[in-house]
Amino acid sequence: MNTPIKRITLRLIPAVLLAAVLTHRSAEAAELRACIDQSNPAHAMDTSIAHAVAKQQGLTATIVPFDGSGDDDEGLALSTFPKLLASRCDLVMGFPLDAQSGVAPQGTRATTAYAHTGFVLVTPKHAATTLDQLPKGSEVAVTYMTTPNLYFSDHPRLTAQVFTSDAETLKAITHGDVAAAMLWMPYVAGHLDKTSGNKLQVSPLSEPHAQWNLVALYSDASQSTAQQFEQGITALRGNGHLQKLLMPYGELAGAAPMAQPHKVVLRRDTPAGHLIKVSGKAEKSVPVLFSPQQAATGKMAFRTNCAICHGPELEGRAGPPLKGPTFANPDANFHVGDIFKIVAENMPAPAPGTLPKDDYVNIMAYILQENGYPSGSKALSFDDAMNSKVPLIYHAEPSS
Ligand code: HEC
Repeated sequence: MNTPIKRITLRLIPAVLLAAVLTHRSAEAAELRACIDQSNPAHAMDTSIAHAVAKQQGLTATIVPFDGSGDDDEGLALSTFPKLLASRCDLVMGFPLDAQSGVAPQGTRATTAYAHTGFVLVTPKHAATTLDQLPKGSEVAVTYMTTPNLYFSDHPRLTAQVFTSDAETLKAITHGDVAAAMLWMPYVAGHLDKTSGNKLQVSPLSEPHAQWNLVALYSDASQSTAQQFEQGITALRGNGHLQKLLMPYGELAGAAPMAQPHKVVLRRDTPAGHLIKVSGKAEKSVPVLFSPQQAATGKMAFRTNCAICHGPELEGRAGPPLKGPTFANPDANFHVGDIFKIVAENMPAPAPGTLPKDDYVNIMAYILQENGYPSGSKALSFDDAMNSKVPLIYHAEPSS
């Protein structure tokens, strides 16, 4: 006797739920949910921008805070961003993209830039505005694993003092312990107090990968919100409001602010300056791994993507040499597969893993050729390169 009533009640439940979901959905359409990294020195600026854009576009801004500092030296995993976009927000604000070569993390897209920022040179007033102007032998403070750290792997004129945090790097220059410091502009803007600020000058750094753009990340699902965001930014730029929001950071050479410096993933230790003789026996057994066409194509890809840091002749610059007995050192007990893994997963340093697979394979062929490996009729494949157990040893004379 109860049964019919029960059935009706049960059928009603899903209907009620559905109604709730639909109501919620339509409320969301007028919302801009912005994920903002609280560890980013420019998070207050991003919050103001999100509110201003939302207001301009008639949306309700919801700020979703997250901690982007990461749990260890490696910083935040790039996979965090698609996850945030899938579950918590329409946009992730304040993502820094290298102005020359930056790409959005996999599974996300980037809006056009709403600000420009980068690494700056901090020196005592009138001391220097570029690295070149610093006297030979000057000590320069940098933060470990930030881009400026790379400039010193083999600097002919300057010595790096490497600190583990931006706070310590800034302290070294405000205390006068070093001739200069290289820091992330938004950090400097937020932390240089008036007293020391008056004695110091801050100049944009004219070195590779010092200029960055700030963008918002979005996903396919939040494309229309991203479009509204871009329209809002354009409108705010047009009426001068955006410049004001960027202000605390924007005083520098038209530069404006943003997030966390990209971290560079540490690789293996190369025993520096350790030279090894290669025995004649090893030379005879050098296997053929790649075709001459691959090495030739790889040379061009190398020039485009790697030479800026590793030198056009692989001789090394900001990055280590990729040719010779220090690089391909038998004592290091490294294999072709190990080095290829570094290349394909961690390089080019500013945008790891972003090149087409063929480019990585061709570049590997070129590096091997330059280290004296012979070419032949067999082409190298991506999987073979990854799994290769062929020892990485420099063969002084090309053995082909
Ligand atoms: C912005 C500078 C930069 C660019 C561009 C760059 N690298 Fe690097 N690379 C580095 C630095 C710095 C290191 C050393 C990092 C470390 O060991 O912590 C490195 C390390 C390496 C290593 C490991 C060397 C060793 O002996 O352990 C290889 C191999 C390498 N890079 C290949 C490449 C290739 C191939 C490209 C182009 C696709 C490339 N790199 C682009 C900066 C760069």
